[in-house]
Amino acid sequence: MLLARTQRMDRNPPMATEIQTTLIILKPDAVQRSLMGRIMSRFEDKGLQIVGCKMMRISRELAERHYEVHRGKPFHERLVQFMTSSPVLVMAVRGVGAVEICRKLMGFKFGSQAEPGTIRGDFGVSNSFNLIHGSDSPETAQFELALFFDAGELVEIDRAIEGWVYDLSTGSPE
Ligand code: PPS
Repeated sequence: MLLARTQRMDRNPPMATEIQTTLIILKPDAVQRSLMGRIMSRFEDKGLQIVGCKMMRISRELAERHYEVHRGKPFHERLVQFMTSSPVLVMAVRGVGAVEICRKLMGFKFGSQAEPGTIRGDFGVSNSFNLIHGSDSPETAQFELALFFDAGELVEIDRAIEGWVYDLSTGSPE
């Protein structure tokens, strides 16, 4: 009985219920390879809203603040150099459980091992250049969004299709 309950819980992980906004960066390789449109479509196709979007060249200072938690790791300097080497596209992406949904859409860290059907799995093979960054938790998302967007830069979008993206009959999106 206990085993059956545990197995059932494993198969049905808790569902996110809160609307989250997360930071997505299309990295220099995605921009240089003209993959921006196709990657953005993955998020829109899923039903998520793009509520902020701009192209920019990341300064070394901003890259170091963004990757501060990885300072001292063997890949840190290479990663900072890569992210500052050419323009990127940064997006704020919103939806119920958006942080985890975006990470799943992105796929495993490097394209060589990422599942087909994911962004990295479909568009990349490198063990270093990996096309896309997405915040790894709601707390990280708040920190990272503040690095890349001023508060007034994110928009509220009242979409007519929202009632078909989510079940709104209970008063909150499900
Ligand atoms: S760790 O060690 O588990 O904390 O690292 P991880 O969270 O998996 O990755 C942190 C970010 O570093 C990037 N990364 C790399 N880039 C280039 N080369 C190598 N070897 C490498 N290892 C990790 C990884 O993609 C993460 O960056 P973002 O921008 O979040 O994808």
